[in-house]
Amino acid sequence: MMMRAVVVYESMYGNTHRVADAIGAGLGTVFDVTVPVPQASPADLADADLVVVGGPTHAHGMSRPATRKAAVEAAAKPASPLQVEPDALGPGLRDWFGSLGHYPVKAAAFDTRIHGPAALTGRASRAVARLLRAHGFDVVAEPESFLVTRQDRLEPQETARAREWAARLAAAIAPSQAQGTRS
Ligand SMILES: Cc1cc2nc3c(=O)[nH]c(=O)nc-3n(C[C@H](O)[C@H](O)[C@H](O)COP(=O)(O)O)c2cc1C
Repeated sequence: MMMRAVVVYESMYGNTHRVADAIGAGLGTVFDVTVPVPQASPADLADADLVVVGGPTHAHGMSRPATRKAAVEAAAKPASPLQVEPDALGPGLRDWFGSLGHYPVKAAAFDTRIHGPAALTGRASRAVARLLRAHGFDVVAEPESFLVTRQDRLEPQETARAREWAARLAAAIAPSQAQGTRS
């Protein structure tokens, strides 16, 4: 039976969504992947072998209701070229974690953030990793950031990098399957 991975993401402007899809593609050689979002049901998680969770960096960390609202308002300004995702007004990662139980499942965290020193930009993935651990997950990789421009556009190489990051994660968790052998 194929191992199962779930990619949970939050995205206001679509960049984290694109990264989540690329991560799903990178995991896809080893895992049967679902990217059901921005919610995943307890049943989805309970029989997952890997859960990957990411969101945008807002105010140096994970988004909050106020920063999500600010993101929607910024996109609504007439001069803004940004469009919000259909799910942007729904629950964010923080809400999702708030109602989440404990899962002894392997996990990894990622974020999107502005290209620059992390000490200046912050990185939501650290908080995501912390919350994953608090919910019993076994965090098996360093938090990873994928970079956007100051205009909130994903930098061109980042979907390929996300795919490769995910493929390495898959290979680390299921080495025999990544080599194409099934036992
Ligand atoms: C309210 C708000 C606050 C932000 N604060 C930060 C920040 O502190 N550091 C950073 O790197 N990026 C910051 N950003 C940029 C976001 O990281 C960027 O919009 C996000 O990565 C795009 O992902 P998305 O398209 O999935 O929403 C902020 C964006 C918004 C809307």
